[in-house]
Amino acid sequence: MGPRLIIVSNRVAVPDSPRTPAAGGMAVAVKAALKNRNGMWFGWSGKVTDEPVGEPQAVDVNKVHYVLIDLSKNDIQEYYNGLANSVLWPILHYRVDLQEYSRADASGYMRVNRMFADRLSALLNPDDVVWVHDYHLMLLGRELRSRGHRNTIGFFLHTPCAPPDILQTLPHHKEILGGLTYYNLIGFQTDNDRDNFAHYLATQGAVHIRNGTFETEGRRVRLGAFPVSIETKAYMRLARNAGRSALVALVRESLGGSRLVLGVDRLDYSKGIPDRVKAFERLLENNPDWHGKVTLLQVTPKSRSDVKQYGEIESELTGLIGKINGRFGDAAWTPIRYVNRSYSRTVLAGLYRAADVAMVTPRDGMNLVAKEYLAAQNPEDPGVLVLSQFAGAAKELDRALIVNPHETDAVAAALKRALEMPLAERRERHAPMLEQLMEHDIKKWAEDYLSALVGGQPSRKLLAGIRALFGVSSSEQAPLALR
Ligand code: F6P
Repeated sequence: MGPRLIIVSNRVAVPDSPRTPAAGGMAVAVKAALKNRNGMWFGWSGKVTDEPVGEPQAVDVNKVHYVLIDLSKNDIQEYYNGLANSVLWPILHYRVDLQEYSRADASGYMRVNRMFADRLSALLNPDDVVWVHDYHLMLLGRELRSRGHRNTIGFFLHTPCAPPDILQTLPHHKEILGGLTYYNLIGFQTDNDRDNFAHYLATQGAVHIRNGTFETEGRRVRLGAFPVSIETKAYMRLARNAGRSALVALVRESLGGSRLVLGVDRLDYSKGIPDRVKAFERLLENNPDWHGKVTLLQVTPKSRSDVKQYGEIESELTGLIGKINGRFGDAAWTPIRYVNRSYSRTVLAGLYRAADVAMVTPRDGMNLVAKEYLAAQNPEDPGVLVLSQFAGAAKELDRALIVNPHETDAVAAALKRALEMPLAERRERHAPMLEQLMEHDIKKWAEDYLSALVGGQPSRKLLAGIRALFGVSSSEQAPLALR
């Protein structure tokens, strides 16, 4: 059968499963990476049980083989709500002030990483290539190694990686972050994230990094930046046809000629939604001529609701939006439409296409909303992207209106400029960014990462097997040619 690609992540996006929430960036990207490849996607089923966790369940949907495990209430509390989302997430997003560490959560995190390793261990063949995703499973590589697996194992961090001073605020950071050194390749979204982690390792004095590579305990480990992307062409097609969606038509009609500014984010403090809303308020404050002529639609499905900090951001936002609507709205116009629900990919693509401006103002690993918005535009009459300098996407999408989301006046000015931008300038900004997205799509991301992962592995047998896996003829020599 040859080597398989084994994807491991906490969240698994099984199509049509009632337990799959609105697909976040990681899930969408991974699904695209796995398509048409011989492999398996291993992770949490989305089910929370009272009893001790049972055997993994296998299910095949649309040619993807999923193997899913349930988690107990205690696991969710300590590992997912606890260390992953109350400690690692805020720290990785530079929000040391929000972290809430407890020893019980840390040992829950380690227990669940061990449990993933136990279950996966039983399914692994020696020549399988394993690709682990995100901050929930930093210790999985170490756990697999300690069970004797010598497979090629890679890790990709979908979030930002904060600088060493911030990473060191994590209690027992050496144990958790040091776990990443058991992988063969540690992938980041941007050069900045990769360099932050390299500096962190350097401050620990444990390894000597040269050309992004170091040796530790007989393992060769590489660090690299691989900006995640979208299925650009498929998304363009989806958006072209999405205008037919009844809901999109209804939204357009209900705007009655008012211009549409769109925000789409999970309800998360890392997304900069209050900053965005304040900038919209400043636009209205400074420009009475825009009253009644522009609407901000903020689509914000709730997420991680059992984590305290998420309840706080929710209250802050509802208060702020209520205040702005009360202050500027009238019987015939609501300045901000705020909805806590998710929409299908088709409806979202249609909303992106209908929007004159998208506001993307987070601190984010990448932010695929920014990329999807651009791909969804009509190239003849494109909308304008206002993008935070702190989103990974800003490195590539440099013809967007790049803003510091904390500078309310500057974001309000960028928003006004976006709303009033002449067609020629909109086209001139949009075209090179679309071209970039066509070239650097999700397929390229997966290929670049996997080529680097496998290229660092000298076994000829494995390379030949991987080439076969990706349908590359055996006459091709270089492992980097895995297209
Ligand atoms: O890395 C962050 C991430 O995995 C995103 O890709 C995704 O949008 C989000 O987290 C999903 O979060 P959760 O699994 O907690 O719903």
